[in-house]
Amino acid sequence: MNSKFVIHAERILTPSSPGPVRGKDMMKISEFFDSDIVIEDGVISDIRKHKSADVKANLVTPGLFDAHTHIPFVGSRSKEFYMRSRGKTYMEILQAGGGIHYTSSLVKNASLEELVEVSKDFVRKFTEHGIVGIECKSGYGLDKENEIKQLKAIKLLRDVVPNKLSATFLGLHARPKNSPVDKYIDEMKELLKCVKDESLAESVDAFCDKGVFLPEEIEDFLLYAESVGLKVRLHADEIENVGATKLGVKVGAISVDHVLKITQDDIQTLANSDTLATLMPSTSFYLSESYAPARDLIDSGVGIALGSDFNPGSSPLYMPSFVMHLAIRFLKMEPEEVLNAYTVNSAYVVGYKSGVVAPSYPADLVFWKTSEFLDIPYMWQENFVEHVLIDGRMVV
Ligand code: NIG
Ligand code: FE
Repeated sequence: MNSKFVIHAERILTPSSPGPVRGKDMMKISEFFDSDIVIEDGVISDIRKHKSADVKANLVTPGLFDAHTHIPFVGSRSKEFYMRSRGKTYMEILQAGGGIHYTSSLVKNASLEELVEVSKDFVRKFTEHGIVGIECKSGYGLDKENEIKQLKAIKLLRDVVPNKLSATFLGLHARPKNSPVDKYIDEMKELLKCVKDESLAESVDAFCDKGVFLPEEIEDFLLYAESVGLKVRLHADEIENVGATKLGVKVGAISVDHVLKITQDDIQTLANSDTLATLMPSTSFYLSESYAPARDLIDSGVGIALGSDFNPGSSPLYMPSFVMHLAIRFLKMEPEEVLNAYTVNSAYVVGYKSGVVAPSYPADLVFWKTSEFLDIPYMWQENFVEHVLIDGRMVV
């Protein structure tokens, strides 16, 4: 491909400023009509009034980033979907040895190659729906060897997909079934230095909730992770409020995720911090749980990122159009807020400079078949994606 090429866009919709954007700034969007996007060596060099171009596009937005998934994993948990639909709760299934423990037994048996192959197919599905960047995590290994195997799978995945990936070490994803909790946390802590030194992850995460890990059990682990140079994020107050959001802010987490059960006080704490909230309304949908108080969060000045939480239990879903649908319908987010959340803010959480159509930004772009952004969440089952560019390379 030429190192220089030009897209003629009927309409461009883009966040107006670099991320992260917070509170009312999440409404700021810039719009250009009949314009050319000039790309040189994979980077946007100019946006100008249309004069000549190599390709034509209808609506162009920045490529989307999914700020929270559980790739890599193998296997289905459709039986749990049925059990929950007949009254069992997510936690009852987990505590009976199903849930994360069931997926973990499958992941332990899978080879590294199999994890990479299955993940590659998952990532392709995301890409076909406009996702250019994805957060991936471990958390189904649940012992030293298999947690590292999952992180190695993410590292190998980077060579076989074009997407911008980040890796998170989630060794603290389920309370151990057969060993004391402090011994297990110490074992996972022993991995942190090697995870950082071998570039196996950029962040750590922990499931901080009732019946899983409590703030007082994991604070030292998180502080040690930071001391070796890993960023922190948390599955926070998803099922019950255990003070996880406050812990996230206290340790300077880049993001607290889910936050379904947070209080007004937690919202104020977040608003006075640099920590973003990553919301995944598809998890509320699949678990028949309440939705995160996105309106209160944004109105209080917090920045929101969005993700699918793609995993075989609480959210077997990869389509950003459906996440957007739920965000508008149940989180009461405005379309402008959704676009900022899914682009600049999610890119920031995943760890990339991207998400804005402006000079100096990488040409991570989606061409949509409609000129109306709202069509995407409105008719979520229709894939409106025409093309996807990552660093100027057309990958869809
Ligand atoms: O984000 N809450 C913990 N982890 C996932 C679910 C993982 C699973 O059930 O396999 C979540 O909901
Ligand atoms: Fe999750």
